[in-house]
Amino acid sequence: MSFHYRNGSLHGEQVSLEEIATEVGTPCYVYSAEAILSRFRTYNVAFGDTPHTVCYAVKANSNLAILQLLAREGAGFDIVSGGELYRVLQAGGDPAKVVFSGVGKTREEIEYALQSGIFSFNSESEPELSWISEAAVKLGKQARVALRVNPDVNASTHEYISTGLKEHKFGIDIALSEGVYQRASKLPGLTLDNVSCHIGSQILNPSSLLEAIDRVLSLIERLRAQGLAITHVDLGGGLGVAYKPGDETPSIEDYVGHIVSKTKGRGLHVAIEPGRSLVAEAGVLLSRVLLDKENGGKLFVIVDAAMNDLMRPSLYKAHHEIETVREHAEGSPTRKADIVGPVCESGDFLAKDRELPVLAPGDLVAIRNAGAYGFVMASNYNSRPRSAEVLIEGATWRIARQRESLADLVRGEQLL
Ligand code: LLP
Repeated sequence: MSFHYRNGSLHGEQVSLEEIATEVGTPCYVYSAEAILSRFRTYNVAFGDTPHTVCYAVKANSNLAILQLLAREGAGFDIVSGGELYRVLQAGGDPAKVVFSGVGKTREEIEYALQSGIFSFNSESEPELSWISEAAVKLGKQARVALRVNPDVNASTHEYISTGLKEHKFGIDIALSEGVYQRASKLPGLTLDNVSCHIGSQILNPSSLLEAIDRVLSLIERLRAQGLAITHVDLGGGLGVAYKPGDETPSIEDYVGHIVSKTKGRGLHVAIEPGRSLVAEAGVLLSRVLLDKENGGKLFVIVDAAMNDLMRPSLYKAHHEIETVREHAEGSPTRKADIVGPVCESGDFLAKDRELPVLAPGDLVAIRNAGAYGFVMASNYNSRPRSAEVLIEGATWRIARQRESLADLVRGEQLL
């Protein structure tokens, strides 16, 4: 367990979270390197001798230290912007293992990626295919391209993060994709030997993922029959994590096991793009209680982290477990409260109607499973400096990102 109680106090690996909060202040994201690496290794080992690349979806957590940890393990990266490519290169990532996804890339981003020597573009529209072709010709390069096909399966997840149905903005309708492959294969500068898909995120039921794989594999057979030498497949990310006690998720081993058995013997190099399942459980958001107040018979515990620090509860009504950093004895009194931040919106909450031990001003809480889509979605709303990020490795820890200062808040702004 990367986060666990020791001597009555919550630790990340061997480091006390109280110590980090005292030295770095709160709110503060804390990540366990071991938790990230062990999950990455589990993915890799589960593929066995199947030729594969695990391309970490940078959007889940793009802190340079985390990218560097994964780069050192030989990870590939799934990016969706020039900014993410820049981060991967800064962190020492291998551009030859980078796939560039996303529904709208600019010409500048396409050229930057080609010049950096990325592995492949996952493209989802014909205009973009022409732009990639034009950029490749202009730069004298050959661009490997996968069409991101939309397999029309329902990922059964929150509507904002489901992407695999026909009515979503993502992908190219799988039924139309053969025609697009044929037309694209006539464009200069493109190598079309790859197919990709991604049907959504926080998927707990593997059947939709498996259904998508089946549809993509049968498309590959049809494309091959039409003379296209497809040698690569990219099955996207999406594996969910257990946010709530009792959530059931497929294990990484089982999920990859399914992929391996479905793709075996087909002469395919398999890429996947996991984000959340690598980093979510490896992170907590540490926050301190400011005060509590009662309004209309309801108890609110106001903490120093808010929707600008962790947006998931406000945006998706997402559930994150909250634990007190000081361990409470079994049977000690609890109260039901909304845990909310200081931001001036009723939508600013971290948890609603949550039964928690009685919290006093100054107490520390850890908001669990905050390593994915946490800091990366933070903003400066209400002119709140973004929090610090800390990385624990065994018994040591370091600041992976400094807390923003007040001067950082106005950087780039100009007085009249
Ligand atoms: N590949 C592509 C093309 C994606 O769009 C995504 C996520 C991933 C891979 C990684 O998916 P994962 O393994 O992390 O599920 N902000 C939302 C999640 C948005 C996911 C967007 N795409 C949240 O906080 O739940």
